[in-house]
Amino acid sequence: MKKKFLTSSLLVIGCLATLLLCIACAKQIQEPVNPEQQAKSQVTAASEMAPTTTVTTEKATGKQPAGVDLYKQTPRMLKPVECGSCHKREYERLRTSNSKHRFDCLNCHTKLHAYIPPKKNYEQIMPKCTRCHGLKHGKAFPKCLQCHEDPHSPKDIPFEAVSKKMKTKSGKSVVACKVCHASEAKEMAKYPCKHNTAVGCTGCHADKHGVKPSCLDCHEPHVEGQTYKDCLVCHRPHSAKNILQYPEDTDNKVCGSCHSGIYEDLQKNHTKHSDLYCADCHVRHGQIPKCQKCHGEPHGPALHKKYPNCLQCHIDPHNLPVLKK
Ligand code: HEC
Ligand code: HEC
Ligand code: HEC
Ligand code: HEC
Ligand code: HEC
Ligand code: HEC
Ligand code: HEC
Ligand code: HEC
Ligand code: HEC
Ligand code: HEC
Ligand code: HEC
Ligand code: HEC
Repeated sequence: MKKKFLTSSLLVIGCLATLLLCIACAKQIQEPVNPEQQAKSQVTAASEMAPTTTVTTEKATGKQPAGVDLYKQTPRMLKPVECGSCHKREYERLRTSNSKHRFDCLNCHTKLHAYIPPKKNYEQIMPKCTRCHGLKHGKAFPKCLQCHEDPHSPKDIPFEAVSKKMKTKSGKSVVACKVCHASEAKEMAKYPCKHNTAVGCTGCHADKHGVKPSCLDCHEPHVEGQTYKDCLVCHRPHSAKNILQYPEDTDNKVCGSCHSGIYEDLQKNHTKHSDLYCADCHVRHGQIPKCQKCHGEPHGPALHKKYPNCLQCHIDPHNLPVLKK
């Protein structure tokens, strides 16, 4: 009797030991070497578990699983569409938002269905943007949801959130645009223009973040037929008064829209200069060329020494008088 008890208890202990070993073994196998492998093995496991075969047999037999059959499968994690059957709003936002966040809900929601109101743990269990993105726009913008109000549609950003005033490090109050788009702000500060005072970032980029205006929304073109693209040949939007170098073959009519007298002289009193573009001589706005650049000194050193300025005789390059010898 005693011996029997001993052998049976040894048997039990033996069994328990093997069981423990087995569990340890199994655990070791389950523990992956690195997270990437884990991700891979989960993916394959999920696809292996895909319930396609069950569905077809159900269809084939027309029978719904019942009783014990309901418990035959090992559970697998839900796919987004299945979460969506209860969380319609979040699923729909992701579906229609064209967002790059349309991956598995569980990539973000590592903890879910864990909200316990008395614990006030909502904040704690919700995904943190910084886990994947860090402080995307720097230390000045730590509260992601102030602008990206809905993580399931992160590109919907209310305009008020990006256009509000905020304090910079130096204590100055500026519109938030300037903190994120420092290069545009710097350019505007460097080239003073009525746009700075009369318009401002939110005067041109109004109502929705990222919209870009056309100059023609607010201005007439210099000459008929000029398009918005043409404006940008001479004007940068954030330093509009600083005229860029225009192409050599810029239509004289554009210059003539402001310098009408000169334009008319050049047209009416036809000389060989009339065949030139204004831009051949005035390569940048406001620049005055030297006659010698193109002609050298054609009349001999003595004459040029006596009359250093060509215009003493030729008077007006736009309206050359033909002098008598
Ligand atoms: C990019 C990460 C991300 C993805 C992907 C994501 N969520 Fe969320 N979700 C969040 C964050 C962050 C919050 C917390 C928002 C807050 O605090 O206002 C949240 C909140 C929620 C809430 C709580 C809403 C509420 O009003 O309390 C639900 C429900 C939810 N998500 C469901 C889903 C479902 C379902 C999916 C997949 C179809 C999904 N989420 C995908 C980040 C994500
Ligand atoms: C059978 C319905 C159902 C399914 C399926 C479901 N949930 Fe929920 N979920 C709920 C309910 C009910 C709540 C609590 C009430 C609420 O916030 O809507 C909740 C709450 C949440 C919350 C916020 C509170 C918390 O405790 O986390 C998130 C996030 C969430 N679910 C994500 C998901 C995700 C992701 C999936 C898919 C993996 C999913 N749910 C599948 C019913 C469901
Ligand atoms: C699990 C990681 C993860 C979390 C958490 C996460 N994101 Fe993302 N997010 C991504 C990935 C991946 C992309 C796509 C990146 C790419 O293609 O360059 C992305 C893209 C974006 C984009 C680009 C716009 C788009 O959707 O196409 C925005 C904006 C964004 N995330 C904001 C957020 C905000 C705000 C949060 C917190 C509410 C958040 N993300 C949380 C992974 C994450
Ligand atoms: C003051 C508003 C504001 C805050 C706060 C904010 N963002 Fe953004 N975020 C934006 C705007 C505006 C964009 C540009 C969206 C677009 O491309 O239309 C953007 C874009 C992004 C993008 C996509 C970047 C790209 O190049 O396409 C990511 C990722 C992102 N934010 C993450 C975050 C994270 C993470 C936080 C918090 C740490 C955060 N944002 C806080 C306004 C904000
Ligand atoms: C929190 C940072 C942030 C704030 C605040 C912000 N932006 Fe942006 N903005 C971005 C990011 C990120 C992008 C997309 C990436 C890029 O082009 O640099 C962007 C893109 C843009 C674009 C270009 C869109 C395109 O299609 O090329 C314009 C224009 C713009 N922002 C203007 C503004 C104006 C005006 C404000 C203020 C009302 C503002 N932004 C506020 C971050 C911000
Ligand atoms: C007079 C109108 C005007 C004002 C004022 C203005 N912008 Fe712009 N901005 C434009 C136009 C027009 C474009 C588009 C240029 C293009 O198509 O190349 C633009 C483009 C941009 C872009 C996109 C740049 C790119 O490379 O695509 C950003 C960012 C931007 N502006 C930010 C700002 C900020 C920040 C301010 C204030 C400091 C500001 N803008 C003030 C007219 C303006
Ligand atoms: C939202 C309207 C608006 C848009 C868009 C706009 N401007 Fe202006 N612009 C103004 C206003 C207002 C003034 C000041 C007019 C005044 O006081 O006489 C101005 C003045 C100017 C001036 C004279 C600046 C000075 O200091 O004398 C130039 C040059 C100019 N704009 C060029 C442009 C160009 C080029 C574009 C496109 C890149 C453009 N503007 C887009 C509203 C706009
Ligand atoms: C060939 C170069 C050139 C092109 C192209 C051009 N501009 Fe100008 N723009 C100028 C010059 C030069 C000035 C005078 C700058 C000064 O006052 O110093 C000027 C001045 C302006 C002014 C302010 C002064 C005024 O009297 O109107 C506005 C507004 C303007 N341009 C708008 C435009 C718009 C809109 C377009 C596109 C339809 C455009 N420009 C295309 C060269 C050009
Ligand atoms: C929108 C009107 C406008 C247009 C278009 C314009 N200008 Fe001017 N231009 C002016 C104004 C105003 C001044 C005087 C203020 C200054 O120096 O910026 C000026 C000055 C000049 C000067 C220098 C005058 C001096 O006394 O030093 C030259 C040269 C000149 N423009 C040539 C041109 C040429 C060439 C074009 C065509 C590519 C052109 N302008 C287009 C308005 C314009
Ligand atoms: C052959 C070269 C040449 C061509 C072509 C030319 N210019 Fe000039 N322009 C000059 C020179 C040289 C001066 C300096 C005259 C002086 O010092 O009195 C000048 C002066 C100017 C001035 C400032 C002085 C003034 O008389 O008001 C303006 C404005 C001007 N040109 C505009 C134009 C315009 C507009 C055109 C085209 C319709 C044009 N120019 C074509 C050479 C040229
Ligand atoms: C960008 C070059 C350029 C500049 C600068 C220039 N010219 Fe000329 N000029 C020409 C060309 C090209 C012709 C035509 C030559 C030919 O057909 O033989 C010409 C012709 C002339 C003629 C002959 C006119 C005729 O109809 O027979 C005179 C005189 C003249 N230039 C004087 C001047 C004077 C004076 C200056 C300075 C105020 C000047 N040019 C500046 C390029 C220039
Ligand atoms: C003392 C007066 C005087 C001065 C100074 C002067 N010119 Fe002349 N230039 C003339 C006369 C006169 C002619 C001849 C007109 C003719 O042949 O029909 C002429 C002709 C020209 C022609 C046309 C030559 C041809 O073969 O068709 C050019 C080009 C010219 N001058 C350039 C210049 C330049 C450049 C300067 C300054 C470096 C200059 N001139 C200074 C008086 C002058």
